Amino acid sequence: MKWNHKVPKLTVVGAGPGDADLITLKGIKALQSADVVLYDALVNKELLDHAPHAEQIFVGKRKGCYTYGQDQINELIVARGHSHGHVVRLKGGDPFVFGRGAEEMEYAALHGLITEFVPGISSSLAVPGYQNVPLTKRGSSESFWVITGTTKDHKISGDVELAAKSTATVVILMGMGKLAEIVKLFKQEGKHELPVAIIQNGTTPEEKVGVGTVNTIETIVKDQNLANPAIIVLGSVVNHREQILSLQEKINIESSFVAAS
Ligand SMILES: C[S@@+](CC[C@H](N)C(=O)[O-])C[C@H]1O[C@@H](n2cnc3c(N)ncnc32)[C@H](O)[C@@H]1O
Repeated sequence: MKWNHKVPKLTVVGAGPGDADLITLKGIKALQSADVVLYDALVNKELLDHAPHAEQIFVGKRKGCYTYGQDQINELIVARGHSHGHVVRLKGGDPFVFGRGAEEMEYAALHGLITEFVPGISSSLAVPGYQNVPLTKRGSSESFWVITGTTKDHKISGDVELAAKSTATVVILMGMGKLAEIVKLFKQEGKHELPVAIIQNGTTPEEKVGVGTVNTIETIVKDQNLANPAIIVLGSVVNHREQILSLQEKINIESSFVAAS
């Protein structure tokens, strides 16, 4: 069914993890047809070039403070939908993965807007992937957990303790402030030597990576000054990165010999 342009509409679009090329074609088409774009802090601003004629409103966090509360964002979506037509809500990664996309769609639908969802590439998968860390690998990991390190009550999620008992790869978002507690839970399970990778600003030019074990990761974070936004990956799949990098180095050395001869 085609959208009637007179009916107010919200499209919640996943912007991907940071690299502007990691949005979907469908996401770009939604931006091109937007009358208003509401975007968050982790969204690559280059993506706004796809909506040059739309009103562009930043509704994310600036210097650690929210410019708009969630209720204000919900109201803004509804008001702009009724006054302008097509509102695109552009959110980092995938809006249904710790993105509050579902809540915004519900509110908009309750207030008379047609809603559509365009998935994005979640940082939980793509940021480790960009650093050659697969979340599953035959013989290494059969499943993965994606957990928030910090719940709405500012506590560590109880799921981290459960995940630490499993053999799965554990991916923790928003966990840097809880790193000491995370390390403690994995040590309680005897996983002192489990490989850990922390990737900050993944898929962007500001990307930083720290790799170690449960035993060493806190020192690595201090030494390398790693901070939010970051993804913590715990599991033997982290070793894949080193294997690939050393093979690539070998290929580079061999090809430089061929080029020089
Ligand atoms: C509110 S959550 C949103 C997640 C998003 N919906 C997704 O699917 O990627 C924000 C957290 O995601 C993680 N994150 C998002 N983008 C990231 C990036 N480019 N590099 C590292 N971590 C990122 C960080 O843990 C950050 O604190």
